[in-house]
Amino acid sequence: MNQSDEHDLGNFSDLDNGELTTCEVGDLEILVCRVDGKLYAIEDNCSHADTPLSEGRLSGFQVNCPLHGASFDVRDGAHSGPPAYTGVRCFEIVEGDSGVTVKIDNGNPEGEDGPQKGFFQTR
Ligand code: FES
Repeated sequence: MNQSDEHDLGNFSDLDNGELTTCEVGDLEILVCRVDGKLYAIEDNCSHADTPLSEGRLSGFQVNCPLHGASFDVRDGAHSGPPAYTGVRCFEIVEGDSGVTVKIDNGNPEGEDGPQKGFFQTR
């Protein structure tokens, strides 16, 4: 079973639909966006060549890498095809009355429980 840590990210009530922002948890850069009123969080690093996806464009549930145009689904981190050859990590994010928390899994994604849903190795 994977272990996960919950981290407070603060208040994102001013993040409108179609907008994205970034935050840091330790040395991990996370892209947070809002689509149809719901927050999503994925790793802010393109799996193709280490480029911040937050510098790209959000269109619906897809964020496009600014460098070569690969797109990733913010709902699960899945990539739509080349030039990226894998997806990016996706994190559970919860928005409550007291703010937003994100869960960062620390366990082995290929452990005895099999791959974690929404987790794709980037290298
Ligand atoms: S660095 Fe993102 S598609 Fe190439």
